[in-house]
Amino acid sequence: MPFAKTGGLGDVVAGLSKALRRLGHDARVLIPLYSFIDRAKYGIKPIGTACVHMGAGIEHWVGVHQTLLDDEVPIWFLDFDAYFGRPGIYDGPLGHHMDNAFRFGFLSKAALQICKDFQYIPHIMHAHDWPTAILPAFLKTWDRILSPLSNTASVLTIHNIGYQGKYDANVMPYLGLGVEHFTSEKFEDFGKTNLLKGGIWFADALTTVSPTHAKEILGPIGGQGLAMYLNNRSADLFGILNGADYSRWNPATDPLIPEKFSPTDLTGKAACKTALQRRFHLEERPDLPVFGIVSRFAHQKGFNLLREALPPALNNMLMQCVILGNGDADTENFVHWLTAAHPGRVGSHIGYSDDLSHLIEAGSDFFLMPSLYEPCGLNQIYSLKYATLPVVRATGGLDDSVANYSESTGTGTGFKFMEPDGLALYWCIGWAVSTWFDRPHHITRLRQQAMAQNFDWATSARQYVAVYQHALRKKRSITA
Ligand code: ADP
Ligand code: GLC
Repeated sequence: MPFAKTGGLGDVVAGLSKALRRLGHDARVLIPLYSFIDRAKYGIKPIGTACVHMGAGIEHWVGVHQTLLDDEVPIWFLDFDAYFGRPGIYDGPLGHHMDNAFRFGFLSKAALQICKDFQYIPHIMHAHDWPTAILPAFLKTWDRILSPLSNTASVLTIHNIGYQGKYDANVMPYLGLGVEHFTSEKFEDFGKTNLLKGGIWFADALTTVSPTHAKEILGPIGGQGLAMYLNNRSADLFGILNGADYSRWNPATDPLIPEKFSPTDLTGKAACKTALQRRFHLEERPDLPVFGIVSRFAHQKGFNLLREALPPALNNMLMQCVILGNGDADTENFVHWLTAAHPGRVGSHIGYSDDLSHLIEAGSDFFLMPSLYEPCGLNQIYSLKYATLPVVRATGGLDDSVANYSESTGTGTGFKFMEPDGLALYWCIGWAVSTWFDRPHHITRLRQQAMAQNFDWATSARQYVAVYQHALRKKRSITA
């Protein structure tokens, strides 16, 4: 979603909705009209108003705006300044927005109202993660009998179970859900309201973003407190690997990289590497392997492992490293320190930059993703297309999308390690570096195999359609 994004969820909603439309479905997307979205740039125009009814008789009038994503997907924007006229999506300069349960509960309720008012009655409402996890509950509890939405089924996709949307119990009245829903199998969680947990109870079908992660979340560590509730719904839980939007992430056409390249001609990649080294003040050495990182700085992404592995790796191995990201203050400090400690060998940019993320994908030789858990992960999928070999921990979607290198046969598309510790990562980096120097013919081969991988959205979208059909069947049997 070019309008507003903090991570992969934005990419997924854009890619999936486009692919669904290409399969002939009338997919539309509703997101908040954050005040930082450039309305003129994206041609966002008002199309009407709606009155959203929350609990305790509260009503809010909102504006509804619209544009087309890539001339294909209608995107509706919910204009309500009190909630969305501020910096940041979930967090602002002062930290987490304290009223997020209200803001996103309101978005979820508004989705139902807008569908009704604009006479768009979908077969499926597809909610994503904790912010809209309450939507399936609204569908099953709100004017069920007379509503034109009474045949609409819901699907909830869990992109990141590490963020569950836990708020005080007293958000329930505003959300308009009675005490009968504040029970341990629905929204109640150690005395708090857990929005994702409630969604798991109410959605007609559940998905997460890779087959391996769908198994992981059924276990006590992967489930992060929700395993039991997911096990209760395991017959309706599916793992579908994310696709990649190759109209944005293809080195043969990417307008954000200095030179294009393709499997038949990789010379442009060398030029991208030089441009990357120059941009990040690294020694312009084609012979040294460059390791790229583009990431939210969050515990999930394995920065505790990087903190252990990168300093000795940089001391002991011939390598360079480029880091782009922002988030946790201590990780930002670590990255500043690492950059200062290795002039000419480590470059970094603390912040969010589409341009730099494309340059890093194109110019690096290896891409580091040592995540503690990774529901899917997109950057390793983009890396494959850019012949940038992923070095990943074998978890979730990283395990599903990267094939481990075999030294004996030269097969594979990247380098994997299992244990979530710094030493394992250190040795895996060493494995990649030694392959770079000692078996360059295998690097050439791995690159070809990586670029040949195809994770296009059409395949994933077809699997989502099958889940939508499952949700409709299941719902019919509930309401019959
Ligand atoms: P997650 O959603 O957990 O952050 P993903 O790998 O699914 O992880 O998606 C991350 C997406 O966000 C990718 O498109 C990546 O390029 C982008 N991204 C993350 N951090 C940055 C950054 N600092 N600058 C630019 N893009 C970023
Ligand atoms: C999440 C996950 C990531 C996934 C993305 C999109 O933020 O952390 O693994 O790729 O959502 O589904």
